Amino acid sequence: MKIAVFASGTGSNFTALVQAIKQGQLAATIELLVCDQPDALVLKRAEAERIPIVCLKPSDFATKTAYEEQVKEALILHEIEFIVLAGYMRLIGPTLLEPYKNRIINIHPSLLPAFPGRTSIADAFDAGVSESGITIHYIDEGIDTGPIIYQKAVPILKTDTFATFTKRMHAVEHTIYPMVLEKIFQEGASNEKKSLN
Ligand code: GAR
Repeated sequence: MKIAVFASGTGSNFTALVQAIKQGQLAATIELLVCDQPDALVLKRAEAERIPIVCLKPSDFATKTAYEEQVKEALILHEIEFIVLAGYMRLIGPTLLEPYKNRIINIHPSLLPAFPGRTSIADAFDAGVSESGITIHYIDEGIDTGPIIYQKAVPILKTDTFATFTKRMHAVEHTIYPMVLEKIFQEGASNEKKSLN
C-alpha cells in the first residue's frame, strides 16, 4: 500500500510507522510526507529516512481549496493510495476527501467523542477523569467526528503527572496505529481479491 503521512509537529507517530514498516509489521511504503509547518521536527525525521516531502504553508494560498489542490497534485504524482494523518492539525476539505473517500485515517488522543480538538491529552488530564485513551477513525468534514475504527483506553493513575500520562498515551499510539493500519490494509486487499473472483 502506497501511503502519504500528513503531519504538523514532532512526528513520533510518523517514526513509529517507519519502524513498523522496517520490521515487517506494516505492509506499506511511505511515499510522501505532507507537512503544513516549515519548522516541524517531522521534516527532519522524513529527511533522515529519505522520504519525499511536500511542505506547503496554507497561508501562502488564496483559499483552502487552492492549497489542497496543490497537495492533491503531489498525491497523484506519487500514486498515493491511502492517507494517514499523524498529528496533522488541520481539517481536510472536500478537495481531498472526495478522491480519497474512506481512505483517510486519523489517530486522536482521547476516547472520542470525549475531548476532541488539539489539546485532548491536557483536557482529559485537567478534567480529572480516571481514564482517557486513543481513537483511530476515518476522516469526515468535522473536527474528530468520522466513523470510529478502534479505541483503546488508557488509565489516568493517581500517581500520574501530565508528563507520565502523556508518555503512556504516546506509547499506546505508537503500538496501535501500525497494528490497526495493517488490519485495514489486509482487509482491503482480501475484499479486492473477493471482488475479482
Ligand atoms: C498525537 O498525539 C496525535 O494523536 C495528535 O497529535 C499528536 C502528534 O504527535 N493528534 C491530534 O490531536 C489530532 N486531533 P506526533 O507528532 O509526535 O506524532
